[in-house]
Amino acid sequence: MADHTRARVLVASNRGPVSFSSAPDGSLTLKRGGGGLVSGLSAIEDPNTVWVCAALGEADREAARRSPQGRLDQGGFDVGGQAVRMLDIDPEVFDRAYNGVANSTLWFLHHLLYDTPTAPVFDATAAEQWSAFEAYNRAFAEALAAEAAPGAAVLVQDYHLTLAPALLRELRPDLRIGYFLHIPWAPVDYFGLLPDALAAAVLTGVLGADRAGFHTRRWAEAFADCCERVLDAKVDRAELSVSYQGRTTRLGVHALGADADFLRERAHRADVEERLATLREAVGGCRTIVRVDRTELSKNIVRGLLAYRHLLRSRPEWRGRVVHIAFAYPSRQDLAEYRAYTAAVRRISQEITEEFATDSWQPLILQVEDDFARSLAAYRLADVALVNPIRDGMNLVAKEVPVVSDAGCALVLSREAGAYPELAEDALGINPYDVVGTAEALHRALTMPAAERRERTERLATAATALSPQQWFLAQLAELSA
Ligand code: G6P
Repeated sequence: MADHTRARVLVASNRGPVSFSSAPDGSLTLKRGGGGLVSGLSAIEDPNTVWVCAALGEADREAARRSPQGRLDQGGFDVGGQAVRMLDIDPEVFDRAYNGVANSTLWFLHHLLYDTPTAPVFDATAAEQWSAFEAYNRAFAEALAAEAAPGAAVLVQDYHLTLAPALLRELRPDLRIGYFLHIPWAPVDYFGLLPDALAAAVLTGVLGADRAGFHTRRWAEAFADCCERVLDAKVDRAELSVSYQGRTTRLGVHALGADADFLRERAHRADVEERLATLREAVGGCRTIVRVDRTELSKNIVRGLLAYRHLLRSRPEWRGRVVHIAFAYPSRQDLAEYRAYTAAVRRISQEITEEFATDSWQPLILQVEDDFARSLAAYRLADVALVNPIRDGMNLVAKEVPVVSDAGCALVLSREAGAYPELAEDALGINPYDVVGTAEALHRALTMPAAERRERTERLATAATALSPQQWFLAQLAELSA
């Protein structure tokens, strides 16, 4: 590839900006995704920008195979002016890397999700999965090395690509490599669950970057603590940097904010208005407690439901006067833990309905289909938003609700969400394990005077939009060049 056609800015992430589905006649339909990275990247005017991602399913693989070197933009697909290289990684390798290591081991580790008497178990199967994880990361490093112009900036995203920065540096020491972790970092003692060799590989993988970014200082410091304990690396806490084997990696804190312009416009389109009318009818004159999540272990949906049940039991005055709208759309159903968790969410919801429902009142509306327009409608309607993760890198729901709320919404927010420090003053903070405490916070939120709710929501919206996805992305790029 001639240098002038190589990319000066590269982004790498497991999930790319587009995905495909296939029809029985073999034709492929492309769907564009959203999220912070997609809007962040839109701020870049440099046309020599490439996004490297993995094919996630069979249709993606087919699209990648039909494109030269997986470059969808050169394969006749309309990827919206974006150059995308989609990697057709062997399905078995992908499954072991994505489900086996990224979404089981690393996700569980950093979110403190293990039931430690029985898990994790690092046996021969785990070793095979780890080899696949290395191969998957190597495939990314090789593709990035092939696409990058001399001295290009590469922004590697998230826990799936933990090893890629170091692998890429070996191939292309000329590149400026940034890494960003979208999830929390485990506390040092919990990180010690990993076998020593894996713990060292995870840390040195990230330290291959010139700069490693996190949503909060808390996660950056947890990473530094692990480097100090496991690698005996030198940590400078004032400067936030880690020096190891002659190189220094700077740590950065970039708290991704909500995309205010997009949300405000999107939340007033006809499809949202329609769903808002339907929801209003369903809740009648009742107050509403809203939650919107993937059915994800770390989101703590089960304890959220238990807290709602405790509220109805301990404060019977709310019966008939409040409805809990819980949108919990399916996620990672390939993993047994997620299937069991989804079943638990359904079971407890059913129990609440059986215990409290009357002929004229449904205490709970549980919906499991993903519908973004309906989520926005619920955000607009909510009197109270419940965001109670066990642990969360940031949590954008907590930031999006105040931005689109119609009349003001009281935010009950876990102290373990990355968003908490920014929103603490105007949210009602909770310990996510404390079901009784959460129920009390829901009661306080429901009884908050309307004027106070409105004022708090305005300040929450200001804090939540402090760093737009575009600024978030450009700031990381600028720091990498500094
Ligand atoms: C959440 C996390 C992201 C992660 C994503 C992966 O949104 O906050 O850090 O990249 O999950 O989800 P997926 O559906 O691609 O497995």
